Amino acid sequence: MMITRRHFIGALTSSISACALNPQLVLEDASEQEFDYILVAKPSPIELLPNTQTPALTFNGGFPAPVLRATQGKRIRIKFINQLDEPTTIHWHGIRIDIAMDGVPFLTQPPVMPGQSFVYDFVCPDAGTFWYHPHMNSVEQLGRGLVGVLIVDEADKVAFDAEVILGLKDWRLNKNGSFKALSQPHQAARNGTLGNVHTVNGELKPVYSIPAGGTVRLRLLNLDNSRLFTINTKDYTTTVIAIDGNAIQTPYPLDAHAMGVGMRLDLGLIAPKQVGEDIVIYDRKGKFNFEICRLRTVASSVPNRQTLPKLPVNPIPTPDLDNSERLRFVFEWAGALSPVDKHGNIKRQFWTINRRAWEGMAKGDIPEPLATLTLGKTYVVELHNATPHSHPIHLHGHTFTVIGSDKRKITPFHTDTILLTKNERATVAFVADNPGRWMYHCHIIEHMKTGLMGYITVTA
Ligand code: C2O
Ligand code: CU
Repeated sequence: MMITRRHFIGALTSSISACALNPQLVLEDASEQEFDYILVAKPSPIELLPNTQTPALTFNGGFPAPVLRATQGKRIRIKFINQLDEPTTIHWHGIRIDIAMDGVPFLTQPPVMPGQSFVYDFVCPDAGTFWYHPHMNSVEQLGRGLVGVLIVDEADKVAFDAEVILGLKDWRLNKNGSFKALSQPHQAARNGTLGNVHTVNGELKPVYSIPAGGTVRLRLLNLDNSRLFTINTKDYTTTVIAIDGNAIQTPYPLDAHAMGVGMRLDLGLIAPKQVGEDIVIYDRKGKFNFEICRLRTVASSVPNRQTLPKLPVNPIPTPDLDNSERLRFVFEWAGALSPVDKHGNIKRQFWTINRRAWEGMAKGDIPEPLATLTLGKTYVVELHNATPHSHPIHLHGHTFTVIGSDKRKITPFHTDTILLTKNERATVAFVADNPGRWMYHCHIIEHMKTGLMGYITVTA
């Protein structure tokens, strides 16, 4: 099928989307039929704290950004227009994408300069909950609002009665809505600088309506620059159905799920039959649970459900462990290593991968890869976090299988971002089936900006 419609989807005013209760606003415009979406990055004031204005960077002028929807196995075409006053690119986090569309400046495409546009045109092989964000000046661009949700619907539709998208992002704001400094070096060298205003889809402790007795799919996304969430629903049974975009083989009841920056979690639940019942989503910190948001049942025509729909698993290639090659990456703290660049600016480098801090990249100046992999081969990779901090380690263009850890019992699962807790050694495996130069970095934005970044090459 050729998709020939362009959708402008407004900010989510309420968050039940794809549900008859509250369909998203879809406008069509016959004049630019070659695109599914037009996405414009631009500065725009938004109201996060009541009666204040925050000078955000936005997609299409608001927050949350448009929720983009693609269908598994189908092409999606997005015309991106840069109306920022600085260059940028858009990366489609978690999509096993063609390298030319991966959105990394210099490595995969030239930066999109202010006033210019770029057409991202790609196929999404996997269904699930993904996201998009720039890959340039990331502390500022993501920190000030350029993060959005990309949903890939299953090729064979899975029918939940309702879907609620929960895009979690904190902001660093003064009382008047203006930004505080987004990075503090002493935090960058630890867990990353945390925000002080906690939002879900840009709202403070929102309440979302769900149909009483119906099946609900929650899609949680950690769109923050630094925060680690430990998601739980305490006294209400919810079921883990997908991790980082990928449906799991055997869903299980949620206890507490750690979700580092960039990570996602899909939960299924059957809503209480009574109207006006609340289910609270919490972030657990030590012994305490902090409310993130809540769901409240409303009357609906949905019959009382007994079971959750089943999600098909994604077609991730199975690693051939018997014919694999081993790789090892060690993530370390480098101390306050602060060399001065050629312009006399301090370059803060706090972290290394295999003893190398990311040097940065410029046109005509691309550092060596961390590793060069052979197309089609299976790699078993040991990841050693030799630091006392957690790191959500993300690889572009591939989905890997987590097979072991010295800190927790692993039921193998697929992901694009693995959370390594302090001193953890984990083992993952994947087939290097996607040729290109793929970024490989910690997703705590200040960590990647201060050394914890590199790329691997998969030869064609
Ligand atoms: Cu979410 Cu390198 O990206
Ligand atoms: Cu990190």
